[in-house]
Amino acid sequence: MQKSNVYIETYGCQMNLADTEIVQGILANKGYDLTNNIKKADVVLLNTCSIRENAEQRIYGRLGNIKTLRNKKPNLVIGILGCMAERLREDLVTDKKIVDLVVGPDEYRRLPEFIDTAFNGEKGIGVKLSKTETYDDLVPFRNDDGLSAWVSVMRGCDKFCTFCVVPFTRGRERSSSLESVVSEVEQLAKKGYKDVTLLGQNVNSYLDNGRDFADLLAAVAVVDRNVRVRFSTSHPQDFSDKLLYTISEHPNLCNYIHLPVQSGSNRILELMNRTYTIEHYLTIIEKARKIIPDVTFSTDIISGFPTETYEDHLATLEVMREVRYDGAYMFKYSPREGTKAYRMEDDVDEATKSKRLSEIIDEQQKISYEINQSLMGVETEILIEGFSKKSNEFLAGRTDTNKTVIIPLKENIKKGDYIKVKINKATSGTLFADVIKKIDLTKSRKQKTA
Ligand code: SAH
Ligand code: SF4
Ligand code: F3S
Repeated sequence: MQKSNVYIETYGCQMNLADTEIVQGILANKGYDLTNNIKKADVVLLNTCSIRENAEQRIYGRLGNIKTLRNKKPNLVIGILGCMAERLREDLVTDKKIVDLVVGPDEYRRLPEFIDTAFNGEKGIGVKLSKTETYDDLVPFRNDDGLSAWVSVMRGCDKFCTFCVVPFTRGRERSSSLESVVSEVEQLAKKGYKDVTLLGQNVNSYLDNGRDFADLLAAVAVVDRNVRVRFSTSHPQDFSDKLLYTISEHPNLCNYIHLPVQSGSNRILELMNRTYTIEHYLTIIEKARKIIPDVTFSTDIISGFPTETYEDHLATLEVMREVRYDGAYMFKYSPREGTKAYRMEDDVDEATKSKRLSEIIDEQQKISYEINQSLMGVETEILIEGFSKKSNEFLAGRTDTNKTVIIPLKENIKKGDYIKVKINKATSGTLFADVIKKIDLTKSRKQKTA
């Protein structure tokens, strides 16, 4: 086979980033060269997201750009992977003539076959969802910085929130084996990685031969105490006390929980099929704060879900004030074909959705700013990730609560070091600090963190 250059662009969530690494692993194994330069590519793949209408619009726009590359290179193979591939299937090839292959998230093993077909001038479509595929045996080709890695621990989602396409694009829930996850983290630790994020659409429903997500976290935490462990995302319904105690027991399990609330109104939560009440949600937050000292939270919020009233919207703002999230991902409701909510009338008009969303964003900005201001003078531990984005005279690191901290460049401090710092300045997004000393995470205990 002639050696071809493959270029991949990734959209959407962290699961998609992790999947791109699996795809690259598969292709590199088959002798393809991976390139970061689209102009050098013989194959251009877009790993896509369907979560909201504007996510798909972006991909269509990008396909328009890529078309001009095809004009210069008529044999260029163009493929769509990921959630749009799964959602739109053949329609993508019919509607977008420039697309040669469409491969959904459970069919990546067959990608080399589809690329060959495309080189022969035929369209390739692989969109079967699987009840078992977890890619456990495959080694991802990591594009990261050698410090932080994603490890997918489960695929799919069975929750069927009424607004969400994920159960349709990713199929049924299935978990990787505990042993395969632990062994991947061992490999990463050996290579010098210091920060691992375990990924799934709902990691709390992880289950492998009677071992739940808390068991998995505990097993991963003891691989190497110098490796910090994070996870995303948790659904409030299956959040167990056992998980909270596990986080509190292991110094390298980060004191940070992403717990999407979506809305503060019980009526809307029910229409969303989120399967919890706001009271239950707040109980989890309260328990977590008791069990894990200095735990922080982030969330996802949707504004303008069908029938959302001004009172419902106020209830969401109220929950934000009550929990005081460190961060939030905030979205306007976007109707997705095939979901239950799609059959409800999208009756909150665009202007109202926008107004409510900006009120939500403003509230979060204010809270984030206040929280960060309150950290002034606090000592905390950060993992140095490299130079700051803005200047090579500063280094950037992250607290275990996922906040970025900027420190002045110092000769003896490098990427991968754990440093104790004291916060001296704060904005709503970034903290600035003085260096106290280098530390060894293995000797550190759960302690006051920023
Ligand atoms: N599995 C995760 C969420 C994955 S999608 C969880 O349940 O926590 C990420 C976020 O996108 C969701 O939490 C939700 O806030 C948002 N989202 C999903 N579908 C949406 C839609 N149709 N319109 C607007 N936002 C949506
Ligand atoms: Fe979507 Fe709900 Fe599943 Fe999250 S839990 S992926 S929002 S269906
Ligand atoms: Fe998007 Fe699919 Fe992730 S729809 S958010 S890429 S699971």
